[in-house]
Amino acid sequence: MKIFIFTIIIILLFIIDNVQLWHFKGKQKSPVIFVPGDGGSQVEAKINKTTVPHYLCEKTSTDYFNIWLNLELLVPIIIDCFIDNMKLTYNNVTRTTKNTAGVDIKIPGWGDPFVVEYLDPSKASPGSYFRYIGDMLVNDLGYVRNLSLRGAPYDFRKAPNENAEFFIKLKALVEETYSMNNNEPVTLIAHSMGGPMCLLFLQQQTTAWKNKYINSLITLAAVWGGSVKAIKVFAIGDDLGTYVLRERTLKDQQITSPSLGWLLPSKYFWKNTEVLVETATKNYTLLDLQDYFININVPNAWEFRKDTEKYQADYSAPGVEIHCLHGIAVNTVEKLYYKPGVTIDGYPQLINGDGDGTVNKRSLEGCLHWKDQQKQKIYHQPFPNTNHMEILRNPNVLQYIKSVLSAN
Ligand SMILES: *[C@@H]1O[C@H](CO)[C@@H](O)[C@H](O)[C@H]1NC(C)=O
Ligand SMILES: *[C@@H]1O[C@H](CO)[C@@H](O)[C@H](O)[C@H]1NC(C)=O
Ligand SMILES: *[C@@H]1O[C@H](CO)[C@@H](O)[C@H](O)[C@H]1NC(C)=O
Ligand SMILES: *[C@@H]1O[C@H](CO)[C@@H](O)[C@H](O)[C@H]1NC(C)=O
Repeated sequence: MKIFIFTIIIILLFIIDNVQLWHFKGKQKSPVIFVPGDGGSQVEAKINKTTVPHYLCEKTSTDYFNIWLNLELLVPIIIDCFIDNMKLTYNNVTRTTKNTAGVDIKIPGWGDPFVVEYLDPSKASPGSYFRYIGDMLVNDLGYVRNLSLRGAPYDFRKAPNENAEFFIKLKALVEETYSMNNNEPVTLIAHSMGGPMCLLFLQQQTTAWKNKYINSLITLAAVWGGSVKAIKVFAIGDDLGTYVLRERTLKDQQITSPSLGWLLPSKYFWKNTEVLVETATKNYTLLDLQDYFININVPNAWEFRKDTEKYQADYSAPGVEIHCLHGIAVNTVEKLYYKPGVTIDGYPQLINGDGDGTVNKRSLEGCLHWKDQQKQKIYHQPFPNTNHMEILRNPNVLQYIKSVLSAN
């Protein structure tokens, strides 16, 4: 009998404990929405084209297929098909972009964290994105995908002027996620360009709305004030950190993205006297960037900047608690240098300064500008030798996020 009662008590304790645990896990934790950066959403295409750049390129597809990030499409020759399907064409009169004729592009999975945890739906590891943070939240803190963990993908090729819909949808997603989680305010976790996307979003909301719906904004390697790297990409392209992809090839697609113009160095962060591009005959500062882009034959880069300059982070604070995390002490391009004898269509030397390998230090630290402008706290934590992508899987970063979300 004693044993029996004892067992009952143990079972009851176990149940109470689990109810509390469930209660804690399910009720008190702030639900999370991932907001990705440039290149950080899955993209699908459906094609029905009359012309293709190479006879090996498909002209039609029966349905939507994953185009980003699909490593199979990035191999030689096939990459030309990829570029033609993924690039945008800019109209400098309407100041808008459109896809290549016969290409329909769709960003799948609104609200689903999967499409920003894995860029490659086959889960191939080069396409892992928010995956490590997602796994930590689910496995260590009991988050549930599609319920307390959600994703806000968008067409990262486009700048905010062509992504107005995103901000409307994000507001609805925050409100829905809040309701689905017993009216618990939401935490936004943003990477890279997702940082300024969230900033714009929060600037558009009222204080009352933010107080009710937002717990905090956690930014990882946010590009608060642009980056010299964007100039480099317009000039010579980028291999996306892989050694198999050729930057010159990818450049043909990259230079068509207005979002890259939005990420150019901001006038709030760079002085007009600072040389960004140095050549034997002329130095270019922010004031001469238009000349530089005309000289290197990417005049649209300047048009993109004009269209997006008003969306660059000024000093108006987001008005929510911020945890501003970023890498530091990684070589980061701060100037392009064309040696005497190298023409402007040649290959510049990249002069490095401090940053996270992609974004300059001053831009990563942009969140500090708001310290005196809002009453909500701004926590700032640099992670030495952690580059722009490693920040998404660095154990110390994961631990930081875990402790912030456990404290709620
Ligand atoms: C493909 O485009 C052609 C016109 O260019 C059209 O006649 C045809 O119906 C389209 N096919 C599909 C499957 O949409
Ligand atoms: C606008 O585009 C047209 C055609 O591509 C080009 O000829 C013209 O120079 C462009 N204008 C500007 C201001 O870039
Ligand atoms: C999340 O929702 C999407 C869309 O309904 C669904 O395809 C996916 O399987 C869901 N994920 C999980 C983990 O339930
Ligand atoms: C460009 O700037 C560098 C210093 O950044 C200076 O030494 C050089 O003389 C300048 N060149 C021209 C052509 O103004």
